[in-house]
This record gives sequence, C-alpha cells and structure tokens, in this order.
Amino acid sequence: MSKPILSLRDLHRDYKVGEGRTLTVLNGVDLDIAAGEFVGLVGPSGSGKSSLLHAVGLLEAAPNARLTIDGQDFHSANEEQRTRARLEKIGFVYQFHHLLPEYTALGNVALPQRILGRGASEAEARARELLTTLGLGERLEHQPAQLSGGEQQRVAIARALANNPRLLLADEPTGNLDPDTSKQVFDALKAIVKAQGVGALIATHNLELARHMDRVVRLENGTLVPFTPEHVS
Ligand SMILES: Nc1ncnc2c1ncn2[C@@H]1O[C@H](COP(=O)(O)OP(=O)(O)OP(=O)(O)O)[C@@H](O)[C@H]1O
Ligand SMILES: [Mg+2]
Repeated sequence: MSKPILSLRDLHRDYKVGEGRTLTVLNGVDLDIAAGEFVGLVGPSGSGKSSLLHAVGLLEAAPNARLTIDGQDFHSANEEQRTRARLEKIGFVYQFHHLLPEYTALGNVALPQRILGRGASEAEARARELLTTLGLGERLEHQPAQLSGGEQQRVAIARALANNPRLLLADEPTGNLDPDTSKQVFDALKAIVKAQGVGALIATHNLELARHMDRVVRLENGTLVPFTPEHVS
C-alpha cells in the first residue's frame, strides 16, 4: 500500500448523558486510508459514523487518539492548526450540504479558495472546472435555492474538493437523493477521487453503493470491522 493519507489509532469517543453517565460510542477505532482509496463506512443509525467523521475531519479534538493526515500529526493540534488543516487538507461533505444561500454555485466553490488566499479569477476558474466536471456547467450562477437537491449536493462536493484536499470525508452525501441522482453523485465523487489520488471515507446506508467502493468498514460496538456488502442483506 502506498503511504497512507489517513492513519488513525485508538480513537475513543464518549458522550456525557445526564448526571454522571457516559455513553461510549467509539471504543478504539483504527483506520488507514491510502491515496486514491475510496472507502465506505457503514453501521446502524447511532453506531457512531458521524462521530468518527467529525473526529477525523478535525471538527473536534481527539486528544487521546493518534491521528496523522497526509503525514502531519494531529495528536495534540490546537484549534487554529485544525482549522488550517480543514481548509488545506480535508474536504468535508455534510449530509445536508450547508451551502451559503446568498452565494451562487460558483461563489460557494470559490469561497474556500479565497479564504486560503487564491486570487478571484483563479478561484473562479477552478470552481468552474469542478462544477463543469460534476455536470453543473449550466448552473454556475444559480443560488442553492434555485438548484435541485442533487445539484446542491454536487455543489457541496465541488466545494469540498476546491482546495485539492488530500482526504475527502462525506457523511451520507447521497442520503436524501433519489436512486438515479444518488448514483450520479456517487459516480462523480468516485471519478474525482480516483483522478486526483485523494483518500476518501464515505458514510452511507446504501449497501448497493457500498458495493462499488474499494473497501467497506462497519462500525460495530465502537470498533471498525471489515465488511463485505454482498454477504449481508
Ligand atoms: N453531543 C452528543 N451528546 C450525547 N450523545 C450524542 C451526541 N452526539 C451523538 N450522540 C450519540 O452518539 C451516538 C452516535 O451518534 P452518531 O451521530 O455518530 O451516529 P451515526 O452512526 O452517524 O448515526 P446515523 O446513521 O443516524 O447518522 C448516538 O446514539 C447519539 O445519540
Ligand atoms: Mg450520522
């Protein structure tokens, strides 16, 4: 296997629930993802998929885990270092896209590049290229409310890829789409991951899509186990 994009060891996550009680959701999660590897994450509702993605996506600290992304150690990273890495190294596609309503599709994809200091015309050119690749070349000037659900989700994917991340994380990116659109969005995501050698971890309830991943892991009782979609109904 080529050098891992993601290396995670011994991630734990507890939530406090009520007076002095804790709920252990992640109980020693290990995961490696290589460049260009498209990995599915499955598990029942409440098993901790979003919790895992949030920790790997540096949306929260995971002080006890060992976590390296693209060779950089985030074991004891502070908030500023995590924010920077989220912009430079990680693309995150939320289940409900979180696009900025007042910006156009082009503007939404250009914005994270502008925050990193890229010039306006360069950022727009990159945004145009990504949106066109994702089939939205005729929708560049539309605001999110003027786009269908699948189109909005594709804008969110373009935005996540805008700064050429090394690691792409997606939380049910096709969860609220019809089967055809969901397959389209999935194929677009996979093609870009393969073309750009990005490591990807995609949470999904859709076992049909999971069959098209390079590898699938399943959360069970707080740890990850290999999973073969064909063998389970
Ligand atoms: N902030 C929180 N405080 C307390 N409990 C939490 C918190 N966030 C999540 N949980 C609990 O942790 C468990 C895992 O939640 P998580 O959102 O990671 O699951 P999931 O696998 O993503 O589920 P789904 O498939 O429904 O999206 C759930 O039982 C949830 O109630
Ligand atoms: Mg979830």
